[in-house]
Amino acid sequence: MSAAPEPPLAQALLARLRFERAMGLECLPAAPLAPASALPVQVPAAPPPARTAPLATTVQAAPSRAPDSPAPAVLDAAERARRWSALEARALGCIKCALHQTRTNVVFGEGSRDARLVFVGEGPGADEDASGRPFVGKAGQLLDKIIGAMGLKREEVYICNVLKCRPPGNRTPNPQEIGACSPFLEEQLELLSPKVIVTLGSPATQTLLKTTDGITRLRGHWRLYKGIRVMPTYHPAFVLRQYTKETRQAVWEDMQQVIKFLSEG
Ligand code: URA
Repeated sequence: MSAAPEPPLAQALLARLRFERAMGLECLPAAPLAPASALPVQVPAAPPPARTAPLATTVQAAPSRAPDSPAPAVLDAAERARRWSALEARALGCIKCALHQTRTNVVFGEGSRDARLVFVGEGPGADEDASGRPFVGKAGQLLDKIIGAMGLKREEVYICNVLKCRPPGNRTPNPQEIGACSPFLEEQLELLSPKVIVTLGSPATQTLLKTTDGITRLRGHWRLYKGIRVMPTYHPAFVLRQYTKETRQAVWEDMQQVIKFLSEG
């Protein structure tokens, strides 16, 4: 006989516990954490109609795309494949900034090109530079756990970075590097046309949303990038450095909003 379905609160608590376990928590904290479902979910009111869709804006309503944002161009499969190949070839041969001199590999991005969910990080670190794959070091292992706790597999999402080459010593990307590299990301996002983009940390969030606001202020609030929903959250490397109940709770709340939105269709 199959078990009766869990009531919503129990389901939320179970999901939360799975996430905590994925994040490495071995036992429950003394003070209980609020279940994610009990936390306010921000779905603000509908936006006034605008003449033209701004590049990045705060989302004021629940539609997957802003009502007046340009509809994504429908590319046929062959044209899409041709554009992916051309884009990847251009990225792999790029010498637009000085980072090409110190890179071992260009880290283009990987995952499903039909993904509804895309994670965008800052730029490759040492492990990524060595392997040519995004998020494979310690931060990547945590990202994998976050993706798993969301009920997804790494292969089902797409993962990439603003920068495709490693800044020496993992320093923060400079504006010239971001300017040279972000057209690759922009075209990746155009080809992917996902339902949700999760930006990880300040540089990715600020680049896509064209803002100078910090991640602490931006995280947890839906924004739009060319009509696509963006959820900024903390970078997994920051979560590892700042391994507190508050940072984990914040990421969990942000991902709960993403899961909810994706499950709506
Ligand atoms: N940090 C990032 O922002 N990207 C990676 O690919 C790895 C670590």
